[in-house]
Amino acid sequence: MRRIYVFDTTLRDGEQSPGVSLNVEEKLEIARQLARLRVDVIEAGFPIASPGDFEAVRAIAREIRGPVIAGLARIKERDIDRAWEALKEAESPRIHVFIATSDIHLKHKLRMTREEVLEAVAWGVARAKKYCSDVEFSPEDAFRSDMDFLCRVLEVAIGAGATVVNVPDTVGYATPGEFGRFIATLRERVAGIEKVRLSVHCHNDLGLALANSLAAIENGAEQVEATVNGIGERAGNTPLEELVMVLYTRKDYYGCYTNIVTEEIYRTSRLVERLTGMPVQYNKAIVVKNAFLHESGIHQDGVLKERSTYEIINPAVIGLVQSNIVLGKHSGRHALKKRLEELGFKLSEAELDKAFHRFKELADRKKEITDRDLEAIVEHEVKQVPEKFALDYLHIFTGNRIVPTATVGIRINGLLKEEAACGKGPVDAVFKAIDKVTGIPVVLQSYHVGAVTGGKDAVGEVTVKVEYGGKVFIGRGISVDVMEASARAYLNAINKLVYEMELVPPDERDSAQELSTGGD
Ligand code: KIV
Ligand code: ZN
Repeated sequence: MRRIYVFDTTLRDGEQSPGVSLNVEEKLEIARQLARLRVDVIEAGFPIASPGDFEAVRAIAREIRGPVIAGLARIKERDIDRAWEALKEAESPRIHVFIATSDIHLKHKLRMTREEVLEAVAWGVARAKKYCSDVEFSPEDAFRSDMDFLCRVLEVAIGAGATVVNVPDTVGYATPGEFGRFIATLRERVAGIEKVRLSVHCHNDLGLALANSLAAIENGAEQVEATVNGIGERAGNTPLEELVMVLYTRKDYYGCYTNIVTEEIYRTSRLVERLTGMPVQYNKAIVVKNAFLHESGIHQDGVLKERSTYEIINPAVIGLVQSNIVLGKHSGRHALKKRLEELGFKLSEAELDKAFHRFKELADRKKEITDRDLEAIVEHEVKQVPEKFALDYLHIFTGNRIVPTATVGIRINGLLKEEAACGKGPVDAVFKAIDKVTGIPVVLQSYHVGAVTGGKDAVGEVTVKVEYGGKVFIGRGISVDVMEASARAYLNAINKLVYEMELVPPDERDSAQELSTGGD
């Protein structure tokens, strides 16, 4: 059995998904979960991109033990130096340098000749190597690059000390047969390639990222770069959970294994979904929301007789635990604590108090509190930034022939402030009333409502994205009443904004430059 190294780039390429913006605490929370999942490498961010990115990489490097912590840098002095500054306290740091190598990128983006690129590669890898023994090099848009030139570039990178060479299909153009041959050719032609770890990084523009990564594995790739739920630039990257579970389920065919703790997959997927605000489609492979629910009578009959008739993955393998205990309004703090521990949540006493309070509120309005409800309580409402603005009460008058009106009572550092507003609809009225209380002119970018579980008394889960000062903040709230969930989500986004603004010194707020890897 051959080991495949899993390089997770959820916090870097994944965070480049349109509309996704995570704060330092959220990135740390995802990194902690990635360490529990036991990925081999966490690409924590692109430190030069913004002060926030830098802080997140530094915080992850300081705290997370186990996986290698990587930071991305263009081949530029200030990028590489800044990446090292952020990474230097990591237990196992890696600087990941990249430069484009396709003629399209050389001509239109970099305006450099091939010779200049070769020189830059030698210089950039050597500079990173001065700081850090583990250096990964990526020729951006490798798949559309000239093969002879690409081989020379990789030889130069290896000669300068790269320990990992990663070949990206940056625009998701390859097909599986081609990509497999492409990897086989590199293995044949690049002198010294056997001395380094060969990695692939596939994008999903044609829906082929996973198939291409698997073809690369069949042709000798040893590391695969992936993101949780497949999030990332445009159509995203190879979905980590799909890659891992294909190798696990079909080890008979691939003869490969990963070190991933598969039982953490489901929780990781849910956490990333919640924190990024990018909903996972209902029929998504592996972490399907209606996973393991069989609709047709023939399937139900088969599964009841013998699970393997229609299920190739046991839900427990990805950590989807079903419990026979039902929690409700008569359940005590001890039962809640026990169930939360079984679900993998370790809460402080203060967090448990908060969880218990919300649990009781919910249990008064909903007969049975499911595991999904408990996950939502903890992830939406307990592990949150301090609540400068806390919802006290909410009254709404609405109907199809009246102007919707909302009155809100909000505690600001404990003191009650009340306001009322009219709106085009009840949600609009609620948000306008909240705006009057906070006095912060945020712009609502998106609003999404879903249900945590099925049934008429299902808990409503609202996700909002608001923009302020060029930055996007994601807020989430839950309640059996979707209006209350909306108010909570909106306040959550504003609380994050306030929290972040208080952390970032005023002189750094304007200089936060957002770069993408597509930049110069
Ligand atoms: O898609 C890409 O080429 C990248 C590189 C920076 C590795 O994300
Ligand atoms: Zn990428």
